[in-house]
Amino acid sequence: MASSSVWKDNTILRKWLKKYSLDFLDGNFNYDLTDYLSDPLLNALAKKLNIDKEYIYLGAGSSQIITNILNLKVWNKIFITSPEFGLYNRNLEKNSINHVKIECITTVDFVNKLSSIKSTEEDLLCLSSPRWFSGERFSDEQIYTILQEFKGTILVDEAYIAYSDNEKGLIDLAINNARIILLRSFSKTYFASGFRIGYIITTKKIDGLRDTFIAPHSISTCSARFATSLINDDKLQKIFSNTRKLVNKNRDIIYDNLKNNGNFNVIKSEANFITLIFQKRQEFSKCYELLKDLPGIQKFDNNITFIKIWISNKEFSLKILKRLEQLK
Ligand SMILES: Cc1ncc(COP(=O)(O)O)c(C=O)c1O
Repeated sequence: MASSSVWKDNTILRKWLKKYSLDFLDGNFNYDLTDYLSDPLLNALAKKLNIDKEYIYLGAGSSQIITNILNLKVWNKIFITSPEFGLYNRNLEKNSINHVKIECITTVDFVNKLSSIKSTEEDLLCLSSPRWFSGERFSDEQIYTILQEFKGTILVDEAYIAYSDNEKGLIDLAINNARIILLRSFSKTYFASGFRIGYIITTKKIDGLRDTFIAPHSISTCSARFATSLINDDKLQKIFSNTRKLVNKNRDIIYDNLKNNGNFNVIKSEANFITLIFQKRQEFSKCYELLKDLPGIQKFDNNITFIKIWISNKEFSLKILKRLEQLK
């Protein structure tokens, strides 16, 4: 289900966009540059999430927020799970930021490794949950252990949380613990990456943080209006909730059929993709050859070799399984 097709294929969504697009696209600019907190989307989101607007920061996609946070001068060292969403590495490496990668296949691996790592209050740890790598979500218990072991601030990237068994994610924790910065995106939740809408929730006070999201902020008025209307429309919320449920079902068809496969490992995913992890390069190449012409197939070949399958409809899941039968 490519991001554009849900909006095009669903009649109600298509009609909704057609009806409101002129309102979104009138060319006006409706921010008060002297008062960042009067931002209409910020207010709508605060109301929707039932949290104080001072704890929410908007960005042009969560990518802008990731970049800005990693490049703040307040961190001593940045720790990051690996493999991780490539933008983190690009920022850390290209900008020569002092960092350490913690390689882990599973969340259990990560928690075990963290116990031997020394950290300070000025350090930042970045992890995604569900993980960008495998879709595995850190359990609440693991998060509490991480908070005990790690002394600094923890950026939890919840880009995929809407596909998980716990859609609320760590919002309550983020409100009650200033060491958590929670990152969210409209890209996966609403198949709307083109609108570039992301936000963080944190009670941590970081000097000048709001100023790093260029005044008034870098979400266009058009995208902000789109997002405001979307989050306030119950009918649309229901459509997306049902669509995500369907994606989860089609993801689990693949997991249930492949979990005992001898050619690769599959971790239970709570995201809109599933990852095949290989020990042997030969199996990896063979598998990629079988799948590569299908949409939504990505291969990664660094320290860990894996193939990500972005979930679509049931036919797609069945096609994947059929193709992989040839490995037997
Ligand atoms: C884990 C993770 N975080 C953040 C992002 C960036 O999302 P956005 O479109 O909001 O910039 C992605 C995009 O793929 C992602 O996988």
